[in-house]
Amino acid sequence: MTETSPSIPVRIAGTGSYVPEKILTNAELADRVDTSDEWIVTRTGIKQRHIAADDEFTSHMATHAARRALEQAGIAPEDLELIIVATITPDTLTPATACYVQQNLGAVGAVAFDISAACSGFLYAMKISKRLISDGAFKNALIIGAEKLSAFVNWEDRSTCVLFGDGAGAAVLTRAEPGQGEILATEMGSDGRLTHLLNIPGGGSACPITTQNAGEHLATLAMLGKEVFKHAVTRMKEAAEKVIERSDLKPEDIACVIPHQANLRIIDAIADRLAVPNDRVFVNLDKYGNTSAAAVAIALDEANRTGAFKRGDHIVLVVFGAGLTWAAAAVRW
Ligand code: ACO
Repeated sequence: MTETSPSIPVRIAGTGSYVPEKILTNAELADRVDTSDEWIVTRTGIKQRHIAADDEFTSHMATHAARRALEQAGIAPEDLELIIVATITPDTLTPATACYVQQNLGAVGAVAFDISAACSGFLYAMKISKRLISDGAFKNALIIGAEKLSAFVNWEDRSTCVLFGDGAGAAVLTRAEPGQGEILATEMGSDGRLTHLLNIPGGGSACPITTQNAGEHLATLAMLGKEVFKHAVTRMKEAAEKVIERSDLKPEDIACVIPHQANLRIIDAIADRLAVPNDRVFVNLDKYGNTSAAAVAIALDEANRTGAFKRGDHIVLVVFGAGLTWAAAAVRW
């Protein structure tokens, strides 16, 4: 699904992020399962992750990130007309986590809903809200990627528990005036033939958690890592190339690529295939691990606040996740 020429240009007016206070290092994980700091760093690039407290939910992290994005954008919660939360770890199956965020912010005039597209969700939310703003339906939208993956990880499975962390990232989208930055092109896709590669098999209507299966860790992430890796590289490259081409950009025009933060080897492979030098690729997975829908949103906020790009620069965001799903966006800041 693609689109190139919206009637009203849309820009990112502010970004924000939040991670919980508690840090879990590789060394601490090595005390729990048969792994080592050396294995985790070599295979993934991850050194630590942040873990939410028991009473800290996805909506709480999302609200913190949202407040920071709203503050930077200079937009009041009451002026929001749309809130989308991308998450696979909602507070509750229903209502949507976006509705809890709406309540927390006092954003009484907004429409609020969640989308489930795993790690691709934040850029899915960006495309949807961009279209709704450019069509004239809404002026101001808040998009959030937020996850409490620690509640859906099997802490006895070394092949997955070392990969994930908790956190939230947010962005405020609004109409762009002439001379301001703009979201130039967006791309998203899915391949439902690959649902088996990465999923949380239990806890839904197909496999409710019962007293009989409660000990089987069915409501935790299961993954065929090598297969996911292969598809991730191919799909992210294709998606990024599409938005670069549709924005009339060349690799040398891109000041910063912000990829999904799952594995440093995947990020290096993408940089290589896009012919973008590594020093223009933003990486923070060493600090946070894979925070799924939150990852690219947290990375965007950190890159923005640390000056990885400046006004007028072109940036490219690119992601993939369970589904499989993938998405990309090219932005003139
Ligand atoms: N510590 C030590 N050894 C381990 C660990 C660990 N934590 N985990 C697995 N191993 C062992 C395996 O048992 C295996 O041992 P064996 O050779 O004796 O059988 C060996 O290490 C190699 O395992 P592989 O799975 O082949 O390792 P690989 O190099 O493929 O790395 C990894 C695994 C890091 C998961 C990689 O495949 C990957 O990153 N894949 C992509 C995953 C991803 O990006 N997911 C993102 C989507 S998440 C979302 O949408 C929510």
